Amino acid sequence: MATIPGMSSHRCLWIALLLLSASVAAAHDLDDFDIPKLRMSRPEFLQDPASAVQASVPEDFATFFYNQTLDHFNYRPESYTAFNQRYVVNSKYWGGADSGAPIFAFLGAEAPIDGDVANAGFLTDNAAEFRALLVYIEHRFYGESIPYGITLKKALDDADTRGYFSSAQALADYAEILIHLKQKLKAERSPIIVFGGSYGGMLASWFRLKYPHVALGALASSAPILYFDNIVPQDAFFSVVAKGFLESSPSCHRTIRRSWEEIDRVASEPHGLRKLSSAFKTCRPLRSSSGLKKYLRLLYSQVVQYNDPSAQPLKLMCDAINGASPRNGLLRKIFAGLVAINGNLTCYVNAPASGSFAQTLLGWSWQTCSEMVIPMGITRNTMFPPKPFNLNSFVAACKSVFGVAPRLHWVTTYFGGHDIKLILRRFASNIIFSNGLQDPYSSGGVLKNISSTVVAIYTTKGSHTLDILGANKSDPDWLVKQRKTEVEIMKKWLATYYADLRAFGN
Ligand SMILES: *[C@@H]1O[C@H](CO)[C@@H](O)[C@H](O)[C@H]1NC(C)=O
Ligand SMILES: *[C@@H]1O[C@H](CO)[C@@H](O)[C@H](O)[C@H]1NC(C)=O
Ligand SMILES: *[C@@H]1O[C@H](CO)[C@@H](O)[C@H](O)[C@H]1NC(C)=O
Ligand SMILES: *[C@@H]1O[C@H](CO)[C@@H](O)[C@H](O)[C@H]1NC(C)=O
Repeated sequence: MATIPGMSSHRCLWIALLLLSASVAAAHDLDDFDIPKLRMSRPEFLQDPASAVQASVPEDFATFFYNQTLDHFNYRPESYTAFNQRYVVNSKYWGGADSGAPIFAFLGAEAPIDGDVANAGFLTDNAAEFRALLVYIEHRFYGESIPYGITLKKALDDADTRGYFSSAQALADYAEILIHLKQKLKAERSPIIVFGGSYGGMLASWFRLKYPHVALGALASSAPILYFDNIVPQDAFFSVVAKGFLESSPSCHRTIRRSWEEIDRVASEPHGLRKLSSAFKTCRPLRSSSGLKKYLRLLYSQVVQYNDPSAQPLKLMCDAINGASPRNGLLRKIFAGLVAINGNLTCYVNAPASGSFAQTLLGWSWQTCSEMVIPMGITRNTMFPPKPFNLNSFVAACKSVFGVAPRLHWVTTYFGGHDIKLILRRFASNIIFSNGLQDPYSSGGVLKNISSTVVAIYTTKGSHTLDILGANKSDPDWLVKQRKTEVEIMKKWLATYYADLRAFGN
């Protein structure tokens, strides 16, 4: 069972989040764009991968490598190149092929799969009740599933190799492995439910739409499938961030609102950047005030996005900001909030990224520059100065880093998204879109029921991907209820499936 982080492990999360603004060597020109991470960040994800790997694949799980096809969509000689793709299986709870007991498949996202096994405890928590087989599959180009067995950095440096790094290839990988697994287990009658959180949640919902013959249904947790192609306004995300701060503490919100001008003012003084670097104990001297402002924007976003009910980082941060003495100035207050979240470190703000988190930053920079174009900016906001999304400079930055222009409309062309209710109400079935409205990414989520089986299950107090994490005694009632509703819905899908199987199966 995955753990909800306590205070001390919680720190690790923030230590890593502080790395968000670190410049990834290859992606330097992309630094100017704020696209907050989509992963279901939990502390265990973000530690040194060597220890995380050992710590998190529990004994009940067996690790396998599938001989995966590099390119599912072409028939050129190199398309047939194979690579090892990692997946882990837990059969402890499975009712077996003969009884057609279900398979729960967790679709990995932009991180090594180890962290998901440890953290997506919703599957393990419910496996016994459903007598389900559990399988977690790693996304290509992450963790141990990188083609040619090279590092992600090397793979991304090579224009031919990185071309195989796309969501469509990833979904085809999942389909191949799941079909292979059913054959291996002679479990053709066992229905599969796919799960995912964040970007992985998008993959889960898209997988159900593209591969209905493989997955009976999908639980897509905190999946912002509408944050593409201007379906939702660009400033939706940061509006939720500001609202979160305002509701948590108006004075904290006000302090932050005033701080931006103060940062600029200090920066413009003689030796201003040196003063700022020292006030924020930066790991390297700041080269501009915008690096600091970007770091803070993302830190505030993450505090709201991952504001889970036990650790409550938003309250923690605002208590520190409000509690710091005004004597030493506004920036001291901001710094106190930063320290409350990160703990006492030797330095802050621009520490180099490391471990699996560096891999996520690197891989996600390619994904956002190729197809996952999330046009996110700040227009009118009560807490942040305007910073509209600049499409031309985003395209230019991607071209300069990767040599190719982003395909701005590909996600909606391939997966849809526009007029989603009209399109999916008669076409789709068996998808749960779950969200917590405190999560800024919920602004790009599906929050209305589309049909009787394509449903939105949200909580007003929830944050990012809470429902698919492991249960904990201290969970609030609304979260317990959300998970229970999801379980009931999945039971209905299965009951209908088994009735159909009796009626129409041979
Ligand atoms: C439940 O949450 C508390 C508070 O965050 C934590 O200390 C504890 O370890 C968690 N227990 C389990 C079983 O996850
Ligand atoms: C993996 O697949 C490739 C391409 O289909 C094949 O040439 C190779 O023999 C396979 N390797 C193993 C270990 O099965
Ligand atoms: C950081 O250190 C200071 C003084 O050394 C201490 O008072 C404070 O509680 C520490 N803060 C955290 C978040 O550990
Ligand atoms: C959608 O339908 C489900 C199941 O009928 C229900 O529990 C849920 O509250 C509905 N969601 C919305 C947003 O109305």
